[in-house]
Amino acid sequence: MNNKLRTTNYKQQIFPKGFLWGSATSAHQVEGNNLNNWSIWEEKTANNKRLAAIKKEWPEHILKAYPSPLHEENYISGKAVDHYHRFKEDFDLARRLSHNAHRFSIEWSRIEPEEGKFNKREVQHYREVIDALKERAIEPFVTLYHWTIPVWFEQSGAWLHNDAPKYFERFVEKIVDFYPDVTFWITINEPMVYASNSFLKGIWPPQSKSLLRYIVVLRNLRRTHEKAYDIIHKKLPKAQVGIVKNVVYFEPHGRNPWNYLLALFANYFWNFQFLNSIQKKQDFIGVNYYFHSRVRWSFSQNENKKTSDMGWEIYPEGLYYILKSLRAYKKPLFITENGIADARDYSREQFIKDNILQIQKAMKESVDVRGYFYWSLLDNFEWDKGFWPRFGLVGIDYKTLKRNIRPSARVYKKIIEARG
Ligand code: FCB
Repeated sequence: MNNKLRTTNYKQQIFPKGFLWGSATSAHQVEGNNLNNWSIWEEKTANNKRLAAIKKEWPEHILKAYPSPLHEENYISGKAVDHYHRFKEDFDLARRLSHNAHRFSIEWSRIEPEEGKFNKREVQHYREVIDALKERAIEPFVTLYHWTIPVWFEQSGAWLHNDAPKYFERFVEKIVDFYPDVTFWITINEPMVYASNSFLKGIWPPQSKSLLRYIVVLRNLRRTHEKAYDIIHKKLPKAQVGIVKNVVYFEPHGRNPWNYLLALFANYFWNFQFLNSIQKKQDFIGVNYYFHSRVRWSFSQNENKKTSDMGWEIYPEGLYYILKSLRAYKKPLFITENGIADARDYSREQFIKDNILQIQKAMKESVDVRGYFYWSLLDNFEWDKGFWPRFGLVGIDYKTLKRNIRPSARVYKKIIEARG
């Protein structure tokens, strides 16, 4: 497969030949047996989450499944889906589903469990992961920070620490030396989602609400990205380095000019401000698209009743508008995440088709999209929600960890084979 970023003729009706098709995961959500800031937080908060869930109403199919939001073990990642030991089997499935790219993350807490001490066995593990992908002709996209950090780093103040970029830099330097054959690098997953959930809403670890801390963390994440970008390029001149940004399609509610202004503001603040600040240090932009928001003073969402199991609105058209607005950066775009929690697999097929159609529409209007990664290859541990949301192309039976390809995954396979 051609690794290099290419220019393509988007006039054609089908997707270009080198287009990358695949799915994404992150270490903590699938591997199992991680010891990091999240795993410690899960143990402390699981019971309260269960108690809070008892007070809510849940659809029957969610309550009947195992684990459900009412089970304490739902909130503890534990052995997750044991991808750590079953990655070859999982990549076989990806290959069978005709994927030619895969996004995953390297768990910092495994590689550097104690400050400055690098674990050779874990380094070897990710060597095998990357080799396993390459042997199956699947292009690896490596994320370096997908929200979980070593305990020692958390204890030293993590991203609030002025020296945070230096700690991360040391890790990245090693990683790049270990895996120089990787072309596509993602420094940070959704910096603003992490910072706002942890420091504005206070719902994720370290649950420390403060506007000032939010600002400091974002500033340090930006510095971290810039440093990581430079190191990767210094060592691997041909690497392609980018950040993954969660983008929301903000649409003014009705014709009220005030709502229009609010939407403009939200759009700038959430979608563009961070990207603008790192413009010179990104070779591509990773786009995670899940949300549409009809903006009015009350910031209400979800007026349209089509939602996923998690209550997230299904609105593929938004992806088209977002892609169009990102064209201004003149960078290649990858959809690094786009997916739906749908335990019964009722809406996933249509969801995938509709989103791909919107990408195709944007590409016909000269938006330079190079790849699509469905979230996720497997059902997995959805952060503070736990295991009950089912995003996988491949379902997991959490009692046996048996993998089960969902019908929608086969439709996605056909789309890949037909190139659109
Ligand atoms: C994204 C995260 C990813 C997953 C999906 C559902 O914001 O990057 O890890 O949880 O949401």
